[in-house]
Amino acid sequence: MIGQALNRVDGPLKVAGRATYAYEQWEAGQPLYGFIVGATIGKGRITRIDTESAEHAPGVYMVMTHLNAPAQGARDESIPFEYWRAQPVLTGPDIHHYGEPVALVVATALEQARAAADLVDVEYATGRGRFAFDDQDDEVYIPKVVNAGLPTDTAVGDFDAGFDSADVRIDQYYTTPYEFSMPMEPHACLVEPRDDGLVVYVSCQIVDAARASIAATLGIDPARVHIVTPFVGGGFGSKLGIHSETILAALAARALRKPVKIAMTRQQIFQLVGMRPTSSQRVRLGAGRDGRLAAIAHDVTMHTNPDVEYAEQTAATTRSLYAAPHRLTSHRLAPLDLPRGTDVRAPGEAPGMLAVESAMDELAHALGMDPVELRIRNEPTVDPERDVPYSDRHLVECLREGARRFGWERRPAAPASVRDGRWLVGYGMSAAIRGHFQGPTAVRVRWEADGTAVVQTDMTDLGTGTYTILTQVAADGLGLSPDRVRIELGRSDFPASWGSGGSWGATNSCTAVDRACQALREKVLGAAVADTRSPLHGLDPADAVFSEGNVGIGGASEAVSEIVARNRPEGVEAEGATRFMGDDPNYTAYSINTYGAHFAEVGVDADTAEIRLRRMLGVFSVGRVFNPKTTRSQLIGGMIWGLGAALEEEAVVDPRSGAFVNHDFAQYLVPVHADVPDVDAVVLDGFDDKANVLGAKGVGELGICGAGAAVANAVFNATGVRVRDFPVTIEKVL
Ligand code: MOS
Repeated sequence: MIGQALNRVDGPLKVAGRATYAYEQWEAGQPLYGFIVGATIGKGRITRIDTESAEHAPGVYMVMTHLNAPAQGARDESIPFEYWRAQPVLTGPDIHHYGEPVALVVATALEQARAAADLVDVEYATGRGRFAFDDQDDEVYIPKVVNAGLPTDTAVGDFDAGFDSADVRIDQYYTTPYEFSMPMEPHACLVEPRDDGLVVYVSCQIVDAARASIAATLGIDPARVHIVTPFVGGGFGSKLGIHSETILAALAARALRKPVKIAMTRQQIFQLVGMRPTSSQRVRLGAGRDGRLAAIAHDVTMHTNPDVEYAEQTAATTRSLYAAPHRLTSHRLAPLDLPRGTDVRAPGEAPGMLAVESAMDELAHALGMDPVELRIRNEPTVDPERDVPYSDRHLVECLREGARRFGWERRPAAPASVRDGRWLVGYGMSAAIRGHFQGPTAVRVRWEADGTAVVQTDMTDLGTGTYTILTQVAADGLGLSPDRVRIELGRSDFPASWGSGGSWGATNSCTAVDRACQALREKVLGAAVADTRSPLHGLDPADAVFSEGNVGIGGASEAVSEIVARNRPEGVEAEGATRFMGDDPNYTAYSINTYGAHFAEVGVDADTAEIRLRRMLGVFSVGRVFNPKTTRSQLIGGMIWGLGAALEEEAVVDPRSGAFVNHDFAQYLVPVHADVPDVDAVVLDGFDDKANVLGAKGVGELGICGAGAAVANAVFNATGVRVRDFPVTIEKVL
């Protein structure tokens, strides 16, 4: 089954409306509704808060503010990952960013809670907030590490000497805006007090982190927090951790001893969940006339919240992408009074590659060289900064195959030289690279006495196809047809996983399922050959074959259901797990990445500068593919987000208040169907034996890496106008 385009096994539930999301759980009975009141200043403190009229409004059960909120645990920096730490709310009168929760109103109906929220009367002493930065800022500082535990700065060779003596030099600044993950399903939860604990239905990417974070915040035993999240309507990073709505619902549910549900409004999401920080990136490339790079430098400054440091790893992929003897990368942070920066769709690679792959296009243009050829000339033989071999690198194949399929040879040789009616037509391309991550994930597989298999893990399915690929891996692992396999996900009572994020979800959970299946086969076999009632009794288990629900050795065979029913009628179980990448020697011995090449054709209206994507192709190398259909869908989704980053997405901060002003889908633009005419993704056959036993690597975030640069480079090819301040919008091209 692995490698087959199996349709989504959860598809029928979803199209029938029977897949229940966090806000749609009704087992708990009639819940109360909470509505969050947010601060209307960006910095300062509450001097008076009057809740009396809200408390007396119809249907209101409680109004919680910092004056009456229960004591909560503090963020503990010794816990290695932010998403497992406490997330206390309503901790005091100080306001740290615009929209920060200042009160929660709980009422019988949502409308009552929302109406009463308007009656909460808050007075503030407004402080001087800092809501923007520039690179010359003296408050810019060096973080301890960047995201994923990577070093903040690297240096190889002598950059200045290499750059100064290069024949051709590019030295440019590129800027990228604040971006929000913006899953379709908002941040939502229902918390039900049950027995001495809490059942928390919450839309999240990492169940184990949600449990740990809620328990630490509320100061209760994690074993008393039961997370249930069978379906998640997208995450894109913003649901890696839990947010204030979950903590507030949990606090209110405990205080009132009733189930409480809260969903953020779309506008609240823009103020409450964090965003990709804005970046200013200086890229310097020095090359010989032959296009070979002598020197690469990528220096990044981004914003951080002063209390919760987040350093996106924006220059990290520059360390592995191209050969050059002299190299520098650096990351700096500017503290601003804005929400915490957070992981958004390929953190680091997505904004970093917008800059570097634009700069490579500028270099190709300066050299008069084909941009595909420029990249091929700078293909390294080993990872140029770590000096270790690549596990499985096929960037050049992606570039060549993409150029061939796209018809790259028809690229207009000179910018602004091809016209189709009112449209100036241009081609652009970009390389793609993304690191491969792995974390600890455990699963349990049980063979039931009726011959079916049940896989249980707290892993989530964000809509990406986890249920489906785990079905395929378990079917292969046990020799069953997929309809004999049942996958149960998203419950903290199941073995803990690293969840969905960082493109690690599929490979972690599939590897763990594969291992659990192996252990389960051995248990079943062991029972059979030791069982005098089995036709397999006394035979050599090394020769066993599991197929169609039977296990055979030589000419003898027995149904697994009979072995299970006879030996352990409640089912035979086994567990499998993966470990943290830091404990895997392959991560030190090899540079493990995925690769791709993007090709885009755009039309730019010669008079209005309206920019339209005409077609786009990505060719990728990701090791082995579990399911070509779900893989292609993820890659296309990433490419479309790349299109958005190139042309549309941008959250704008009001410099007076620190509020995000374009805080809805009418004003924060993401690609819609009319923006996306013809996008295709092709995946090369592959198998990376250093990544894991299944040979597979993550795909979720690769599609966005470099995709936006291909579009922006196509705009340059169409018009001769180079925009370095993303997104590339009409007024910047005119
Ligand atoms: Mo991803 S931004 O790690 O969900």
